Amino acid sequence: MTEIGSTHPRIVVLDFGSQVSQLIARRLREIEVFSEMRPYTAWREILDDPRVAGVVLSGGPASVLEPQSPQVGAEFWQAGKPVLGICYGMQLMCHALGGRLAPAANREYGHAWIEVLEPDLLLAGLPARQPVWMSHGDRVDELPPGFAALARTDQIPFAAAADPARRFYGVQFHPEVAHTAHGAAMIETFARRICGITDRWTAAAFVDEAIAAIRGQVGSARVLCAVSGGVDSTVMATLVDRAVGDRLHAVYVDNGVMRLGESDQVEHDLNAFLHKPIQRVDAGRVFLDRLAGVAEPERKRKIIGETFIEVFTEATRDRGPFGFLAQGTLYPDRIESQSIHGPSSVIKTHHNVGGLPARLGFELVEPLRDLFKDEVRRVGRQLGIPDDLLSRHPFPGPGLAVRILGEVSAAAVSLLQRADRIFSEELRSSGQYDAIWQAGAILLPVRSVGVMGDQRTYEHAVALRAVTSLDGMTADWARIPTEVLARISNRIINEVSGVNRVVYDISSKPPSTIEWE
Ligand code: XMP
Repeated sequence: MTEIGSTHPRIVVLDFGSQVSQLIARRLREIEVFSEMRPYTAWREILDDPRVAGVVLSGGPASVLEPQSPQVGAEFWQAGKPVLGICYGMQLMCHALGGRLAPAANREYGHAWIEVLEPDLLLAGLPARQPVWMSHGDRVDELPPGFAALARTDQIPFAAAADPARRFYGVQFHPEVAHTAHGAAMIETFARRICGITDRWTAAAFVDEAIAAIRGQVGSARVLCAVSGGVDSTVMATLVDRAVGDRLHAVYVDNGVMRLGESDQVEHDLNAFLHKPIQRVDAGRVFLDRLAGVAEPERKRKIIGETFIEVFTEATRDRGPFGFLAQGTLYPDRIESQSIHGPSSVIKTHHNVGGLPARLGFELVEPLRDLFKDEVRRVGRQLGIPDDLLSRHPFPGPGLAVRILGEVSAAAVSLLQRADRIFSEELRSSGQYDAIWQAGAILLPVRSVGVMGDQRTYEHAVALRAVTSLDGMTADWARIPTEVLARISNRIINEVSGVNRVVYDISSKPPSTIEWE
């Protein structure tokens, strides 16, 4: 298979487990340098790869001075590749090459100012004093032979150091986080000037290559895919469609727990830019029958996942033969490193269209497998997919079933659909929608007393959940203006019968999660 991105010169980020390692790869992608994350244990494999123009060693939670700490072998330093060590990576470099580390007396964490001592090299063109973000215990006390200091702080003498002859660079702070004001420029200098990468990894180049790679992979076979109306599957299907035209067969399954009017919308939108109309399968009844009486969140997910596979298989049985199954797997889904996935991936089993293939036995086409979410949006724009579709909030595969706490019924779905519709209409009309990562209404399994007119009511409560986030791994509750909240609450209570109370969820993730189930 022709691997997308395979010919590009690249920077490999060896991950030592920092919470922010993924940001290093993203910063590189943002400046149009192709980058890959690998666990640090892959250090040997990358040395002979001529496409690897440089290596970044990430930060990590361990101490180089501990006996079992993550290491790279001595050959790593002999390979002639430029290296940028960040935090743990810098300590590892200095320790391995003959410098001396001082164990942490106490951790330095947060803002610091560096004073630049060497205005060329890594810090070229940057202010003499600038803010950086520190997070370290140990520090470098004595540099290895050949190294010189590039910057210091009033706490540490070697905030940045280098051996320019061997192209080895180290920074004690984190250039990948936004708090380091000029961090992106340092990363760019490393990639372009020090590693010498001139290649540009752009959405336009990606689209051309992806189309060629898909054609190369599938030949004259037909390709099956499932679409959900979400950004990933829409961009994936459009790319495959551009590559194979009407040999793509896209299927949309309505599982009965979609948002109000969503299925019509998805059908209409996708048919507008695919060569061949999608196959729509209205299977809401099957899903709701199987969900009847089930309250446990993971059971609900499992039922929906399994029913999806069954319905999808049944609906496409007579439409084949298909040689391939295309799916919208993204880069973060397949990065091996633990620090990328975070704890939430084991807290909830995520069944979505990504869960299909292993069971179906097709060969996979995964044109987005190297992309981060924001890159998928850029590719979508390049393909001419309208912005309102690309900026849609994420929506979980099990849909409203995980927002109806407890048992799911057709009546509950209908009630929640109407509340959810009002919530998103008001977020859009007040200009809040795009600043929010994800928003949804949740139907609570409690009833409370209210009064409407002169009547006592005893009805359901609906919770509103809206969060800001970069990637869904961590999130904060969105500061929606109170007058917008007031309008949403009024409208839901007046327009959705069965609801007499609306509350706003002010929990962040962690310790809460985005969805309530
Ligand atoms: P949590 O609730 O874990 O959600 O903070 C993080 C992101 O994942 C989405 N989510 C799911 N997506 N199948 C999916 O396809 C699922 O079972 C599922 N559960 C949560 C959630 O909407 C949020 O964007």
